[in-house]
Amino acid sequence: MNIVLLGAPGAGKGTQAQRLVAEYGLAHISTGDLLRAAVKAQSKLGKEAKGYMDAGRLVPDKLVINLVKERLQEDDAKRGFILDGFPRNSQQAVVLDSELKDMGIDLDVALLVDVRPEVIINRLSSRRTCRECGYTAQAGVDACPRCGGEMYQRDDDKPETIAQRLETYGNKTAPLVEYYAGHGILKQVDGDRDVNEVYADVKSLLGL
Ligand code: AP5
Repeated sequence: MNIVLLGAPGAGKGTQAQRLVAEYGLAHISTGDLLRAAVKAQSKLGKEAKGYMDAGRLVPDKLVINLVKERLQEDDAKRGFILDGFPRNSQQAVVLDSELKDMGIDLDVALLVDVRPEVIINRLSSRRTCRECGYTAQAGVDACPRCGGEMYQRDDDKPETIAQRLETYGNKTAPLVEYYAGHGILKQVDGDRDVNEVYADVKSLLGL
């Protein structure tokens, strides 16, 4: 199964993806995680991307698209994937369609995790992320429950950057909901509920 996860920053895309990956072994392709790894490694890409990420703006398409194209070629992605944070604008969506067509692969579902902005601001302000594996949890957890790594607050989870990320989402990414509705593959889950309830609905919507 090949899935695109849509939703505002902090909607719970990563949280739901982590569960699907653990239960069904799909490849989790998170452009945010890939970019943060590049920043941590201080690679050329990471150095170029960091300023955009810290400002809550989209990293230029040419950087992100190459990253995703390469990741889609890896063996685990051929067994099914969850794209989390990509595509983020119409140009990325069109390139993805074309790339998957060339690979002979179809997208099965674009799943929108829908959460109100006021809930999102609270969630992101108190989110902590594992430095080693990217696992997320709410503040108060010092060690990662998955790998024991240090939990830290992402630079872009500060209030002023959260506001910019939400604006970027509204302007650039939200129109993709219509794009995928037009392709007949859009499904939607109410993400403003207990994580387990959301996950049960996600599985049901995906027919799992
Ligand atoms: P990215 O890392 O993709 O960030 P995002 O889309 O803003 O998404 P988040 O990771 O913040 O949120 P999420 O929906 O995964 O929520 P989570 O599950 O963690 O991107 C970061 C930056 O990289 C971008 O701003 C951009 O600069 C760049 N970038 C990335 N992709 C790009 C692209 N394609 N093109 C250009 N630039 C790109 O949950 C949030 C919190 O809520 C957690 O603490 C979690 O524990 C909690 N939570 C989750 N679900 C629930 C629930 N049901 N109830 C209560 N709490 C919950």
